[in-house]
Amino acid sequence: MSRLSIMAYSFGILFFLVSCSFASFYGYKVVTHDLPKEEKTVEKYNYHFVLVSQELDNEYWRLVEKGARAAAKQYGVLLEYAGPKQANIEDHVKTIEMSAASKVDGIMTQGLSDEQFTPLINRVVAKGIPVITVDTDAANSKRLAYIGTDNYYSGYLAGNALIADTKGKANVAIITGSFYANHMQQRVKGFQDAVKGEKGIHIVTIQESEISRVKAAEKANQILQDHPEVNAFFGTSALDGIEIAHVVEKYKKQDQIYIIAFDTLPETLDYIRKGTIKATVVQEPYEMGYKAVKMMIDLREGKTVPPIVHTDTRILRKGDLPVNYHVRLEVNR
Ligand code: BGC
Repeated sequence: MSRLSIMAYSFGILFFLVSCSFASFYGYKVVTHDLPKEEKTVEKYNYHFVLVSQELDNEYWRLVEKGARAAAKQYGVLLEYAGPKQANIEDHVKTIEMSAASKVDGIMTQGLSDEQFTPLINRVVAKGIPVITVDTDAANSKRLAYIGTDNYYSGYLAGNALIADTKGKANVAIITGSFYANHMQQRVKGFQDAVKGEKGIHIVTIQESEISRVKAAEKANQILQDHPEVNAFFGTSALDGIEIAHVVEKYKKQDQIYIIAFDTLPETLDYIRKGTIKATVVQEPYEMGYKAVKMMIDLREGKTVPPIVHTDTRILRKGDLPVNYHVRLEVNR
């Protein structure tokens, strides 16, 4: 590069930085697409929201993002999607703090634990940035609304499904995403309450996957070694059931072991089609994302929104599954 072109280049960068700081100083929401210079477009947005997920590339969260993006596009919102690469509370909290520091118009995230999330959410709301909890509620915080599954009820449904499918006789192992996250505790509690009157159902052990596939598989393996009497599994987060099924197939025990999972990711549906997973709890992540953005806009416009919006949850078994189930889902969206 010649000296002249380096100077021109540096001047270009300087000009860009100066215009960005002007834009943010005056609260003017501007986004420039990364196009060649002459084609650069400047778009104006009504609002700038951030959706902070538990794990960036988790397929479940990509569906929440997809719903949120659809609403953002429809209503002229600049939506950022951010979060830890692998589920991690510290990174999650940091991402929320950074979003608040950059003075966005609204933050949508989980209320994972009262200890870490309630004071944080309260601080953000006190700064004038509305927070909506999605998927997991921090009900004791000052979040303005929650949209997501009734997590206790979904666990209760899972317990009832297991009772029905095993005719009230099973030694159950639970693999849960986290011992500390509100939604996971509620799902387990709902399940325990549903089965507690059943003399033939015993919860033998509860293990934690930390939302990690590898850990879920390790725990399923260990449970089969340590508790040969286990003949049923309940996986309480999206990847747990998939990994339990994987391990159970490895031991060729799919005919002896009952599995109930969570969510309807493509791999879970494949295992249901094969009969390895017998049932799963349906959640509506796309709708959570879509409605969270819509509710955030309503809040910004001074409208009242209901403090709790529960999305649909129900049990799905092989018989409920049309051959092209997820193709149909895509078409509907
Ligand atoms: C939960 C999410 C979680 C995901 C992990 C889902 O069932 O609702 O909160 O992040 O599982 O795979």
